[in-house]
This record gives sequence, C-alpha cells and structure tokens, in this order.
Amino acid sequence: MASVPSLASSVNQRVADALASALPEAGGADPLLRRSDRADFQANGILALAKKAKANPRELATTVVEGIPTGELIQEIEVSGPGFLNITVADRAIISTLAARAADDRLGVPLNASAGTTVIDYAQPNVAKEMHVGHLRSAVIGAAMVEILEFTGEKVVRRHHIGDWGTQFGMLIQYLLEHPHELDHKSGDGDEQASGEEAMSNLNRLYKASRALFDSDEEFKTRARARVVDLQAGEPETLALWQRFVDESKIYFYSVFNKLDMDIQDPDVVGESGYNDMLVETCKLLEESGVAVRSNGALCVFFEDVKGPDGNPTPLIVQKSDGGFGYAATDLSAIRDRVTNLGATELIYVVDARQSLHFKMVFETARRAGWLNDDVKAVQLAFGTVLGKDGKPFKTREGETVRLVDLLDEAVERATAVVREKAEKVGLTEAEIVENGQYVGIGAVKYADLSTSAARDYKFDLDQMVSLNGDTSVYLQYAYARIKSILRRAGDRKPVAHPELELAPAERALGLHLDGFGELIAEAAAEHAPHKVAAYLYQLSSLFTTFYDQCPVVKPDPGQVVGENRLFLADLTARTLAKGMSLLGIRTPEKL
Ligand code: ARG
Repeated sequence: MASVPSLASSVNQRVADALASALPEAGGADPLLRRSDRADFQANGILALAKKAKANPRELATTVVEGIPTGELIQEIEVSGPGFLNITVADRAIISTLAARAADDRLGVPLNASAGTTVIDYAQPNVAKEMHVGHLRSAVIGAAMVEILEFTGEKVVRRHHIGDWGTQFGMLIQYLLEHPHELDHKSGDGDEQASGEEAMSNLNRLYKASRALFDSDEEFKTRARARVVDLQAGEPETLALWQRFVDESKIYFYSVFNKLDMDIQDPDVVGESGYNDMLVETCKLLEESGVAVRSNGALCVFFEDVKGPDGNPTPLIVQKSDGGFGYAATDLSAIRDRVTNLGATELIYVVDARQSLHFKMVFETARRAGWLNDDVKAVQLAFGTVLGKDGKPFKTREGETVRLVDLLDEAVERATAVVREKAEKVGLTEAEIVENGQYVGIGAVKYADLSTSAARDYKFDLDQMVSLNGDTSVYLQYAYARIKSILRRAGDRKPVAHPELELAPAERALGLHLDGFGELIAEAAAEHAPHKVAAYLYQLSSLFTTFYDQCPVVKPDPGQVVGENRLFLADLTARTLAKGMSLLGIRTPEKL
C-alpha cells in the first residue's frame, strides 16, 4: 500500500518552493494550481500574492519560473498574461506516476491523515409502510458516501433510523390482536422477493383496514388508544405484536435492498425505538441546562430565526404536553448515543431536504447542550425531490406513490432489452443476459440519482437512464467492458508502462485525468459529494473514447512499440472505472 503523490501536487510543491524563495513573505502560500486547456496546468495564485506584497506580478512570476528547473517532472513552464504560469509536465513523469499507481491495490489513492469516525444515517424507511423514491435516494446516496469515506480510511458506522415507533402502532397492534392471522404468509417459504412482496401487501391491507376502523368505530378507537399506553409501558404481549410489524417490515425492506444490490446489515438497523431508554434523560438534560423550557406544558427549544407565518417563534418540541416524545426527542437521543457511545467525530444525515428545518433545530439544540461542538460536527446531506417526466413530484397517473419495487423491475426489464440487443455479438449466455440486465438496470437507477448533486431535484426518466449515449451508467459500463475486451484480445501482451516513450495528445489527456483520481476521492469525501465521482468517471470514459479513436491499442503498425503504453493506459482506465463505479454501488460486467 503506497500512496502516490499526484502530478498536480508534485508540481504545486515545486512552484510553492520557488515562490517561497522568490518572495519569502509568501512562504507557505498556495500557488493555486489548476488543470488548464492551454497547458497541462496553470498556477493562478501568484497574481494575488504579488499584489498583496506590492510587487509586480509579471516580474514575480518570471523570478518564480527562473527558480524552477525543467527536466524529469516539468517539461515547460512560462509566464502568461498578467502573472499566471502555464506548466507542461514531462511525458515521462506522467507514465512513471501512473505506473506507481498501477502497482498499488488502492491505485495510489492516499488515506486521509486526519480520518475520524463518521456515523451515517441513511436508508431509513418506515415500518408498515411502503418504501418510496425518497427512501431510494437516501439509500443510494448514503451507500455511496459510506464507500467513499471508507476508501479514504474513515471509520464508518451505519445507522438505519427506521420509523418503528409512534402512536399509529396502537391502532395496528389492536387490529392484529383482533385479527391474529392478518400478517401470516400464505405462500409458504417462497423466494426472498416473493416473501417481501407478500409481507408488504399484508401490512398494507392491515394498515388500511385498521385505519378505516379507527375512523369509524369509536370503541375500536378507545381500545387502540389504550394499546398505545400499553406499548409505551412495555407490556410484553403488546411489545411482541409490535415486534411482528417490525419483523415483517424488515422482510420487505431487505427484499428491496437486495434488489438494489445493497448490503444492509441487521445490527445497523437501529430505529427510533432504539433510543426509547434515553428519552427521559435527554429531556432532563435539556431542561436542567436551560436549553429547553416548559411552554404550555410542552418542553420546547426556541430559536431567534425560526418563526411561523404569524411571526411567533416556532419551537422544537422535545416533549409534548401529554408527556409523549416525538421525532425530535429521538433524534436528540440518537445524537447523544452516536457521539458518546459510538465515538463519532462526524454525523451525516442523508435525508430529504424537506426535513431541513427539523435538522437545523435539532443540531442547534445539540450544540447548545454541548453534544455537538467544534470537534463533533453534524450535517444533513439533504437531497431534492424525485420528479416525474412532467416535472411534478413522482406519482402514478392515479396520483399514488409509485411502488419502488415496480420501478426497479421496470428498470431491469428495459435494461435487459438493451443488453439483449448486443448479446449475440458479445457472446453472452442467457444467464449472463439476465445478470447483466440487473446490473445495468439497477446501475442506471443509482447513477441517475448520483450523477446530479444531491440537493437538486431530478427527473425519473427510465428512457434516459438506460440510454447508451450521454451521462449514464450503461455508457460507463460499456466503456469498461470494451476495455476488457481489448485486454482479452491483447492475449499475452501485458499492460506494462514505458516511461521512455513519447505520448500522443489523447494519451496525455487520459493519463493526466487518471492521475487526478486520488484528489477527486478526497474532494468527494470531504464535500460529501458522490456526484463528483460520477462526473469524474464520465469524463474518464469520454477521454478514453477519444483516446481509443485516435490511438489504436491492439494492432499498432508492426514493430511500432508506441502501442505499449496504450495497453497500460487502457488497463489502468478499466481499473479506475471499476473502482469508482463500485464506490457508487454499481457493477461493471466484464462482457456487455
Ligand atoms: N424515517 C424517516 C422518513 O421516512 C427518515 C429518518 C431520517 N433520519 C433521522 N435520524 N431522522 O422520512
């Protein structure tokens, strides 16, 4: 395991050193190196530094250039414009750096020196309720964040904060008590998908029936309310029935997560009920410290800048006046648990942007209580709404929530058709067609979600998602499979780096982009921005396409060794693509 400094960081260091000797007071300043169209890199920082030191920018830039030897690393460096530097690196440096990356399992990507422990709250559906596209987003974005952070060396604890508590359970449990076979499975032990669907359809039916009874039958309503009290008191029979709802829901959740090719572990599912034992103490701590105050019997936290339409402050209610605890008390208790017991240095919540006010108030409360501070931060990785083709929130034509399972099935169906079209040419068996159809279909759904920045709304458009052209997962999967086929055709020839050979422009462009992988990962991790990984991979595939058009890989003219680096570049591109896609939770079939 060897982390490889990128060319950008090596060049940046050279320029910084030269800058420090040219202008000692600028020692340690960042020359602000960026990729550039005109040369490989441009250093933009000198202008501002010169101005600050009241020096002539062009003169300073010239002195810096004189202090930088050209050779192994930098082939050419010149002053441009009012005081920028244009820098071209040596071909040799590109290939040697990439060779060092290729020799490493981690592709030379450094571990974060200041890694900590992140607790990430994602994939949190609700018990006895159908999952919807919002839960899909949380799951997909959260899973990608987990992988990206772990790849940088962060310790990651997953928490699936499922909605498994609340007064609605009174009605559900009471109904089940009176209709004890409502959750039984009729079809015996079918496959996981079938059991999942049956569990959900039972839960759905029971939910509707108990709601109808609750609304029409006063006596049932009374019994249901008494049941809530039993549940909160932990009465064993009531708790056992509650557990059945949780267990049945989990059968359904896991079937969906499995369809999503997503690994969710039972010990990480710690729902709202998991914090019940802490609620009283949380309230006590908040009240005693004065962070929360009683107002009309309820325990409330007030904020300067949170007001309702009437201009009166809207408090965060930690305990209702009837003594009940809600969503906020649970989230505050979860923060205490995650910080104190799990040792978190960062908390990430992958939750719909429509809950942003809740989290703003919860985080601020936790800061006032001292549970969050400069060493322990909490952030909401807020995501936007999934829209239909019409630009309105995604619903069926009848205005109902779209069932996630149907959506995923349709994606896989369409993808399978796309895969089948090329199957003969590629030589895929029927089993491979089915498997690739899943990888492409599920990949398409995930990529569509991950390729726009989370905060933005996006349109759920299956036609676009499985399109072979444009910024789609299948485009990336094809790029990967194509490289694999090239490597297979190369037979015995191994992808070996030849730093002594000159590079064609398309080779250089591809090589320089490959070299940026480590920095990209660090950036995506720090900014919680999986879409940056998607954008990087898309650009990588595009650069590969250009490279492949311009530079024959397998059959160069006889005796023309210039092809040697090409096989090496192709191989490293494939490995980088596969790694990046796996961080996004997307498979890369070898043949497509
Ligand atoms: N179950 C909630 C929902 O479906 C999301 C939970 C988010 N996490 C949290 N700690 N509040 O909207």
